[in-house]
Amino acid sequence: MKALVTYYSETGNTEKLARSIYEAIHIDKELLPVQDVKNTQGYDIIFVGFPVQAHSVPAKLNPFFKGLTGGQNIALFCTHGSLRGGHLPKQALEHAVGLATRAKVLGTFGVRGKVDAKIIEELMKRVEHRAWAEEAQGAHEHPNEMDLADGKEFARGVLAKIGR
Ligand SMILES: Cc1cc2nc3c(=O)[nH]c(=O)nc-3n(C[C@H](O)[C@H](O)[C@H](O)COP(=O)(O)O)c2cc1C
Repeated sequence: MKALVTYYSETGNTEKLARSIYEAIHIDKELLPVQDVKNTQGYDIIFVGFPVQAHSVPAKLNPFFKGLTGGQNIALFCTHGSLRGGHLPKQALEHAVGLATRAKVLGTFGVRGKVDAKIIEELMKRVEHRAWAEEAQGAHEHPNEMDLADGKEFARGVLAKIGR
Protein backbone atom coordinates (compact mmCIF):
# COMPACT_ATOMS: atom_id res chain seq x y z
CA MET A 1 0.00 0.00 0.00
CA LYS A 2 1.41 3.38 -0.97
CA ALA A 3 0.14 6.94 -0.63
CA LEU A 4 1.17 10.12 -2.42
CA VAL A 5 0.57 13.55 -0.96
CA THR A 6 1.05 16.22 -3.58
CA TYR A 7 0.31 19.93 -3.52
CA TYR A 8 0.68 23.26 -5.20
CA SER A 9 1.40 26.16 -2.85
CA GLU A 10 2.43 29.77 -3.48
CA THR A 11 2.78 31.15 0.05
CA GLY A 12 3.12 27.96 2.09
CA ASN A 13 -0.42 27.52 3.47
CA THR A 14 -1.32 24.50 1.35
CA GLU A 15 2.14 23.04 1.90
CA LYS A 16 1.57 23.21 5.69
CA LEU A 17 -1.70 21.33 5.33
CA ALA A 18 -0.07 18.81 2.98
CA ARG A 19 2.67 18.12 5.54
CA SER A 20 0.10 17.61 8.28
CA ILE A 21 -1.86 15.17 6.12
CA TYR A 22 1.41 13.40 5.25
CA GLU A 23 2.26 12.98 8.96
CA ALA A 24 -1.08 11.26 9.58
CA ILE A 25 -0.43 8.56 6.99
CA HIS A 26 0.93 5.30 8.32
CA ILE A 27 1.54 3.38 5.13
CA ASP A 28 4.38 3.73 2.65
CA LYS A 29 4.19 7.37 1.51
CA GLU A 30 5.66 10.16 -0.59
CA LEU A 31 5.32 13.94 -0.40
CA LEU A 32 5.89 15.89 -3.62
CA PRO A 33 5.13 19.34 -5.04
CA VAL A 34 2.67 18.72 -7.88
CA GLN A 35 5.20 20.00 -10.43
CA ASP A 36 7.46 17.06 -9.50
CA VAL A 37 4.87 14.32 -10.01
CA LYS A 38 5.96 12.36 -13.06
CA ASN A 39 3.62 9.43 -12.75
CA THR A 40 0.36 8.85 -10.92
CA GLN A 41 0.55 5.06 -11.24
CA GLY A 42 1.40 2.76 -8.38
CA TYR A 43 -0.34 4.62 -5.56
CA ASP A 44 -3.34 3.28 -3.67
CA ILE A 45 -4.37 6.79 -2.70
CA ILE A 46 -3.30 10.25 -3.86
CA PHE A 47 -4.03 13.33 -1.75
CA VAL A 48 -3.86 16.43 -3.92
CA GLY A 49 -4.00 19.97 -2.54
CA PHE A 50 -4.24 23.48 -3.96
CA PRO A 51 -4.91 27.08 -2.96
CA VAL A 52 -8.29 28.32 -4.16
CA GLN A 53 -7.64 31.03 -6.74
CA ALA A 54 -10.37 33.08 -8.38
CA HIS A 55 -12.99 30.64 -6.98
CA SER A 56 -11.32 27.74 -8.70
CA VAL A 57 -8.28 25.49 -9.09
CA PRO A 58 -4.99 27.06 -10.26
CA ALA A 59 -4.05 26.05 -13.82
CA LYS A 60 -0.75 24.71 -12.43
CA LEU A 61 -2.75 21.62 -11.40
CA ASN A 62 -3.92 20.85 -14.94
CA PRO A 63 -1.02 18.56 -15.92
CA PHE A 64 -1.65 16.49 -12.79
CA PHE A 65 -5.35 16.06 -13.49
CA LYS A 66 -4.66 15.29 -17.14
CA GLY A 67 -2.16 12.66 -16.02
CA LEU A 68 -4.79 10.67 -14.14
CA THR A 69 -5.22 7.68 -16.38
CA GLY A 70 -8.28 6.20 -14.76
CA GLY A 71 -9.55 4.63 -11.61
CA GLN A 72 -7.04 6.12 -9.17
CA ASN A 73 -8.30 6.84 -5.66
CA ILE A 74 -7.79 10.49 -4.89
CA ALA A 75 -8.69 12.89 -2.08
CA LEU A 76 -8.81 16.65 -2.64
CA PHE A 77 -7.79 19.32 -0.16
CA CYS A 78 -7.45 23.07 -0.40
CA THR A 79 -6.74 26.24 1.53
CA HIS A 80 -8.73 29.40 0.91
CA GLY A 81 -9.12 32.88 2.33
CA SER A 82 -12.91 32.74 2.49
CA LEU A 83 -14.89 31.27 5.39
CA ARG A 84 -14.57 27.56 6.06
CA GLY A 85 -17.60 25.54 5.07
CA GLY A 86 -19.00 28.38 2.96
CA HIS A 87 -20.16 28.21 -0.63
CA LEU A 88 -16.98 29.81 -2.03
CA PRO A 89 -14.50 27.03 -1.16
CA LYS A 90 -17.21 24.45 -1.90
CA GLN A 91 -17.46 25.77 -5.43
CA ALA A 92 -13.68 25.39 -5.94
CA LEU A 93 -13.68 21.84 -4.59
CA GLU A 94 -16.57 20.96 -6.90
CA HIS A 95 -14.53 22.33 -9.76
CA ALA A 96 -11.61 20.10 -8.74
CA VAL A 97 -13.92 17.07 -8.62
CA GLY A 98 -14.93 17.97 -12.18
CA LEU A 99 -11.27 17.98 -13.25
CA ALA A 100 -10.75 14.56 -11.70
CA THR A 101 -13.46 12.72 -13.64
CA ARG A 102 -11.09 9.88 -14.47
CA ALA A 103 -10.36 9.23 -10.79
CA LYS A 104 -12.45 8.07 -7.86
CA VAL A 105 -12.73 10.96 -5.39
CA LEU A 106 -12.84 9.57 -1.84
CA GLY A 107 -13.09 12.88 -0.01
CA THR A 108 -12.72 16.65 -0.09
CA PHE A 109 -11.47 19.00 2.60
CA GLY A 110 -10.63 22.68 2.98
CA VAL A 111 -9.37 25.10 5.62
CA ARG A 112 -8.65 28.81 5.59
CA GLY A 113 -5.23 30.18 4.68
CA LYS A 114 -4.00 33.68 5.31
CA VAL A 115 -3.63 36.18 2.50
CA ASP A 116 -1.19 39.08 2.56
CA ALA A 117 -3.03 42.28 3.55
CA LYS A 118 -1.62 44.17 0.57
CA ILE A 119 -2.94 41.56 -1.83
CA ILE A 120 -6.37 41.74 -0.21
CA GLU A 121 -6.35 45.50 -0.58
CA GLU A 122 -5.54 45.22 -4.29
CA LEU A 123 -8.03 42.45 -5.02
CA MET A 124 -10.85 44.22 -3.16
CA LYS A 125 -10.75 46.81 -5.94
CA ARG A 126 -11.82 44.16 -8.43
CA VAL A 127 -15.44 43.19 -8.28
CA GLU A 128 -14.84 39.52 -9.16
CA HIS A 129 -12.58 39.15 -6.11
CA ARG A 130 -14.48 41.23 -3.59
CA ALA A 131 -16.63 38.52 -2.00
CA TRP A 132 -13.82 36.22 -0.95
CA ALA A 133 -11.31 39.02 -0.31
CA GLU A 134 -13.66 40.57 2.27
CA GLU A 135 -13.92 37.24 4.08
CA ALA A 136 -10.17 36.68 3.79
CA GLN A 137 -9.44 39.61 6.07
CA GLY A 138 -10.19 37.33 9.02
CA ALA A 139 -7.95 34.47 7.87
CA HIS A 140 -4.64 35.84 9.12
CA GLU A 141 -4.12 33.14 11.74
CA HIS A 142 -4.83 30.21 9.42
CA PRO A 143 -4.08 27.46 8.88
CA ASN A 144 -3.83 27.07 12.66
CA GLU A 145 -3.15 24.00 14.82
CA MET A 146 -6.80 23.04 14.83
CA ASP A 147 -7.01 23.23 11.02
CA LEU A 148 -3.93 21.02 10.73
CA ALA A 149 -5.36 18.53 13.23
CA ASP A 150 -8.59 18.44 11.19
CA GLY A 151 -6.45 17.75 8.12
CA LYS A 152 -5.02 14.70 9.88
CA GLU A 153 -8.52 13.53 10.75
CA PHE A 154 -9.53 13.96 7.11
CA ALA A 155 -6.55 11.83 6.05
CA ARG A 156 -7.45 9.07 8.51
CA GLY A 157 -11.03 9.04 7.24
CA VAL A 158 -9.88 8.68 3.65
CA LEU A 159 -7.44 5.90 4.55
CA ALA A 160 -10.24 4.05 6.33
CA LYS A 161 -12.13 4.02 3.03
CA ILE A 162 -9.31 2.01 1.45
CA GLY A 163 -9.15 -0.31 4.42
CA ARG A 164 -6.21 1.34 6.25
C1 LIG B 1 -4.51 35.69 -6.82
C2 LIG B 1 -5.22 35.06 -5.65
C3 LIG B 1 -6.53 34.65 -5.81
C4 LIG B 1 -7.23 34.08 -4.75
N1 LIG B 1 -8.53 33.70 -4.92
C5 LIG B 1 -9.23 33.22 -3.85
C6 LIG B 1 -10.61 32.87 -3.99
O1 LIG B 1 -11.22 32.98 -5.04
N2 LIG B 1 -11.26 32.39 -2.90
C7 LIG B 1 -10.64 32.25 -1.68
O2 LIG B 1 -11.28 31.82 -0.72
N3 LIG B 1 -9.31 32.55 -1.52
C8 LIG B 1 -8.61 33.02 -2.58
N4 LIG B 1 -7.27 33.33 -2.42
C9 LIG B 1 -6.62 33.09 -1.13
C10 LIG B 1 -5.78 31.80 -1.15
O3 LIG B 1 -6.57 30.71 -1.58
C11 LIG B 1 -5.25 31.47 0.25
O4 LIG B 1 -4.48 32.51 0.77
C12 LIG B 1 -4.44 30.17 0.24
O5 LIG B 1 -4.30 29.70 1.57
C13 LIG B 1 -3.06 30.33 -0.37
O6 LIG B 1 -2.40 29.10 -0.31
P1 LIG B 1 -0.83 28.90 -0.57
O7 LIG B 1 -0.12 29.63 0.53
O8 LIG B 1 -0.63 27.44 -0.50
O9 LIG B 1 -0.54 29.47 -1.92
C14 LIG B 1 -6.57 33.91 -3.48
C15 LIG B 1 -5.23 34.32 -3.34
C16 LIG B 1 -4.56 34.90 -4.40
C17 LIG B 1 -3.15 35.33 -4.19
